[in-house]
Amino acid sequence: MCGIVGYTGKNSALNPVVEGLRRLEYRGYDSAGIALPTEIGKPLYIEKRAGKLKNLEEALAKTPNSTSGIGHTRWATHGGPTDTNAHPHLDNDGKLALIHNGIIENYVQLRAELEKRGHKFKSETDTESVVHLLSDARKENNGDLAAAMRQVCKQLKGSFTLLAIHSDNPSHIVGARRNSPLVVGVGNGENFLASDVAAFIAHTKVALELGQDEVVEITPTSIEVTNLAGQVVKSKQYEISWDASAAERGGFTHFMLKEIYEQPKAISDTLIGRLDGLNLKLKFKKFEKIVIIACGTAYNAGLVGKYAIEKWGQIPVDVELASEYRYREPSLDKKTLVIPISQSGETMDTLMALRYAKSKGATIFSVCNTNGSTIGRESDAVLYTHAGPEIAVASTKAFATQLIAMYLIGLEIGKRLDNLSKKEVNAIIEQLSALPAKVEQVLETVEPLRELTRKFKDVESVLFLGRHVGYPTALEGALKLKELAYMHAEGFAGGELKHGPIALIDKGTPVVAIMPAEHSVLAEKMASNIQEVKARGAVVIAISEFDFVGADHLIRIPKTDQLLQPVLAVVPLQVIAYEMAVARRNDVDQPRNLAKSVTVE
Ligand code: F6R
Repeated sequence: MCGIVGYTGKNSALNPVVEGLRRLEYRGYDSAGIALPTEIGKPLYIEKRAGKLKNLEEALAKTPNSTSGIGHTRWATHGGPTDTNAHPHLDNDGKLALIHNGIIENYVQLRAELEKRGHKFKSETDTESVVHLLSDARKENNGDLAAAMRQVCKQLKGSFTLLAIHSDNPSHIVGARRNSPLVVGVGNGENFLASDVAAFIAHTKVALELGQDEVVEITPTSIEVTNLAGQVVKSKQYEISWDASAAERGGFTHFMLKEIYEQPKAISDTLIGRLDGLNLKLKFKKFEKIVIIACGTAYNAGLVGKYAIEKWGQIPVDVELASEYRYREPSLDKKTLVIPISQSGETMDTLMALRYAKSKGATIFSVCNTNGSTIGRESDAVLYTHAGPEIAVASTKAFATQLIAMYLIGLEIGKRLDNLSKKEVNAIIEQLSALPAKVEQVLETVEPLRELTRKFKDVESVLFLGRHVGYPTALEGALKLKELAYMHAEGFAGGELKHGPIALIDKGTPVVAIMPAEHSVLAEKMASNIQEVKARGAVVIAISEFDFVGADHLIRIPKTDQLLQPVLAVVPLQVIAYEMAVARRNDVDQPRNLAKSVTVE
């Protein structure tokens, strides 16, 4: 939820640290700060500001020179977004600085003990306890910051990525992680630590994965990783496959718009080399059921996955909100295949549900977008989506590729369990292959929708209706509108409306209806549902693959297999949410109160 970056090398640290924070701002953007050692043994230079990163940048005009430093961009959990609560936090000498992503669950008890020992606290954060603890531990370990970090990690409960720097040894940065991400960027005469490779991609494409409960020490020329017992650990090194330009706006006004337009490529990249089969060692015959676990947009993709996997694979699928799953003692065992879906691969709710399922003997086959992420690493098998870096907080291209992953998995199971004939398999492959061009077609025709959306900018509420896979698509449309336009929006199954929600319809309420395939029974039923809302004053915008005449406004999308329709139908919904956010002057890429990677439960 917070973004963390550390640099030590031969150049000024200010640029790589601030640039890293800019690239990590998607992880949290309610305050930011940096710490730089300027003179050996003297208090560190600290600057921190509430609000967006630009507030910090404005305050950095007279920053002293330093070749190492750490920086943080925050999504507040404990203590509001103020200058004082912003990270880094300092020990009482002002020589040790610490930044943190995650939650320290036992901070109340730690703080009480530290205060008894004479430590003075300034902030309301859980993090500040750790810097005081680390300060004492460093003294106990004769100034060895890594040994102190190992000692402190053993005392902490919760989730954390921590980075610390001390002015006695200024080119030395120590990091640690438990349940939150931390990667090492391996440079030439310089090294980096960050929550995400995006922070240092402009400087190096070589990264090291850090495991659970590992501590890392970097200097300009060395990297050492140890476990909490102090034993040296060999970390996996990997090449980052995308380049810095992938994380730039490239002429678009917002990352979200760019990412909406990148969907044809993202879909095509995710399909490439997989249409003839997935290279998986899993034996699908042994599974009696599948459980998909995910949050938010990824959950909506999972709901579509249920339709595809059950139809093609003929195996029961439950789709569960990850945050609810492990707390209700669900029935699962080694005959269960659990599919976590996560763009970031770091979502704490999903990770915890994964671990729970694993502890019950289930096989874990995850769908992730971020290479080397914790969820991917802790799974028995992974299907990586190839959406590339998604910077806008609201997910678009990652959702499209999660849908593709669901279809690929459904197809694979259908084939392996002999539920699909050769002819059916070929027809599905043909339809899947045609999707990138069809999404391109949708994107070429959305301009009038942007204008139409602006007309509704002052309405109080928008409803989304769908049937079959149109229902999860409607949920996704409503989620996008809520998070971007800050307006009431809800998605409903068309048939469910009359059981209560129809009371929400008032004169002029916009209803976005996703029409099922032409001539289908569902299309007839949906047409009736549309009549019901229109009779009560709703203005209906239909998204349809045929010339449906029952709506006030019609958005045409190309024809495809009914199961694949969400890939096309969601594009106008993303455009509606985007345009509404622009019209209401909201921050499109960084909507209020949100963070891209939700690493707390
Ligand atoms: C909405 C959105 C979130 C994420 C959810 C899960 O636009 O982005 O709802 O889908 O937080 O995130 P991941 O996929 O990273 O696990």
